[in-house]
Amino acid sequence: MPLYSEDIIEEVRSRNDIVDVISQYVRLTRKGSTYFGLCPFHNEKTGSFSVSPNKQMYYCFGCHAGGNVFTFLMQYENFTFGEALEALAERAGVALPKQEYSATQRMEADKRARLLEINKEAAKYFFMLLRSERGKRAMEYFKKRELSDETIKKFGLGYSDQYSDDLYRYLRNKGYEDEILKESGLVTIDERRGGHDKFWNRAMFPIMDVHNKVIGFGGRVMGDGEPKYLNSPETKIFDKSRNLYGLNFARTTKKPQLLLCEGYMDVIALHQAGFDNAVASLGTALTSGHANLLKRYTKDVYLTYDSDGAGIKAALRAIPILKEVGITTKVINMKPYKDPDEFIKALGAEAYQERIDQAENSFLFEVRILEQEYDMHDPESKTSFYNEVAKKLCGFSEKLARDNYIEAVAAKYMIAAEDLRRLVNQYGLKEGLAGAASANSDRQQSGIRGNEKNKGRKKEDGMKQSQKLLLTWLIENTGLFQKIKKYITPADFTEEIYHRVAELLFAQYEESGTVNPAKIVSMFENEEEQSEIAGLFNATIPAAMTKEDRDKALKETIVRIKENSINHRSKELGPTDMEGLMKLVQDKKALEELERMHISM
Ligand code: CTP
Ligand code: MN
Repeated sequence: MPLYSEDIIEEVRSRNDIVDVISQYVRLTRKGSTYFGLCPFHNEKTGSFSVSPNKQMYYCFGCHAGGNVFTFLMQYENFTFGEALEALAERAGVALPKQEYSATQRMEADKRARLLEINKEAAKYFFMLLRSERGKRAMEYFKKRELSDETIKKFGLGYSDQYSDDLYRYLRNKGYEDEILKESGLVTIDERRGGHDKFWNRAMFPIMDVHNKVIGFGGRVMGDGEPKYLNSPETKIFDKSRNLYGLNFARTTKKPQLLLCEGYMDVIALHQAGFDNAVASLGTALTSGHANLLKRYTKDVYLTYDSDGAGIKAALRAIPILKEVGITTKVINMKPYKDPDEFIKALGAEAYQERIDQAENSFLFEVRILEQEYDMHDPESKTSFYNEVAKKLCGFSEKLARDNYIEAVAAKYMIAAEDLRRLVNQYGLKEGLAGAASANSDRQQSGIRGNEKNKGRKKEDGMKQSQKLLLTWLIENTGLFQKIKKYITPADFTEEIYHRVAELLFAQYEESGTVNPAKIVSMFENEEEQSEIAGLFNATIPAAMTKEDRDKALKETIVRIKENSINHRSKELGPTDMEGLMKLVQDKKALEELERMHISM
């Protein structure tokens, strides 16, 4: 993304009031100094989504989404930081400094813009034709497939005419030259015969990217005929392995997972039935480019591929590709119907939702398909099956996951878990799988060890909580900084990101005597970090506290943070680090002094 200065970023941020911006998306009601509403990032019935005009930040106490006005657009619109900045600059009328591009870069950008224009013109043309007398048959076709007017409009469906060059002539009349039209993939130019349309007499499905820009088309024959679908070729703006049909709508779904289907019609039928989380790859097998794109929006993907052999094969190919990028996959069973479109037509949305709820874990799906290759009544074949499954189970490098899967498979195929575990460990030994061989001895000790681990984690969480609480107090009580700066420094915040935030916060107080937490948020570019920082400034402070209780809690918090910091540093102190040692001694003294002091908000 283009780099902008901190000042410009802050100017854009401060000229876009967060309550105004979020009000365009979420209905907010005022309660005291804070606004509340239903969180747009998770499903809820009571509003835990808060927007603070003072902090210029939002935070959801339910799902912990949060940040400043940039973060909101990044999360809601799935913008990058640069895109959020540009959108908000435009909204507030702030001119961003022009970025310098080379001549070639400018020409490329220009060409892309022209190709997008051409696709948009074509989509408008097909859309218009569908509604004309000439498009009657296509309209009937869509109606026969039970698409509502609203759906047809939403997906911008259209019709390409029977003449084989009317789009070409239309676009030429709009002023586009042969050269650029050729690159659009919508026409072919023959030296002798002139321009010809790629699509004619087809029901047209415009393909949009996540920003709702038309980048290509799919065209279906109406009725039987070959090929059933024609698609735009790849162009400068149409990269099939990095775009998913329907993602422009699905990206703002509130549903926790995305549904991945095979076809255009499946996506459309699912959206029409209320499943606004459906997407499909574009007439190609799933690629790692698709998987990475999906990963930006969800960690859970449900496959809803055709129930025939080809669909099963496609699912078996897709599962490892999704797993590779860290997506958890489940498989929806659509039997006895062919695909989601037909399933919903026959049984309706509720029945489909049931299938979603019953979706099968992808590993168990793989095992079930594998089983079909074996004769489970034949002992020889059955043994081979278990050996194959054991090999597969070695793929889980984490002991806990492996154990859980061993148990699940054992229960399903009626074999003793211990026998299967032994088999897995045998393969593990052969393949050098660390930990599998000692699985049993691990188990015997895990009782004690597990407890110790838990205790350690609890203590750590408590410390995080204290550091969070102090950061929140520091921004909510602007007078507090002067009172505590003698005792606490940014170095006492031992969590990495807390430490960076404390440094920025302390610097703001030193420089201006006041604090601007929303500005700190924009100093971090990545959305997850921004949300985490919003969490640091929104620690839950028990409301019904007396002043005395609050002062006591404040002092205890400061003492805990200081103690932890001293312990932390003395553990890491090198034997020759005299300076560090002196600082420690000083800090210990300060801590003793602190314990005798009275600090008040
Ligand atoms: N496809 C394609 N070219 C073909 C056939 C299929 O690009 N000749 C792609 C299309 O994106 C299509 C998807 O593969 O949507 C799935 O194909 P298929 O299951 O055959 O069709 P459906 O989507 O079920 O289409 P319909 O319901 O209209 O028959
Ligand atoms: Mn179909």
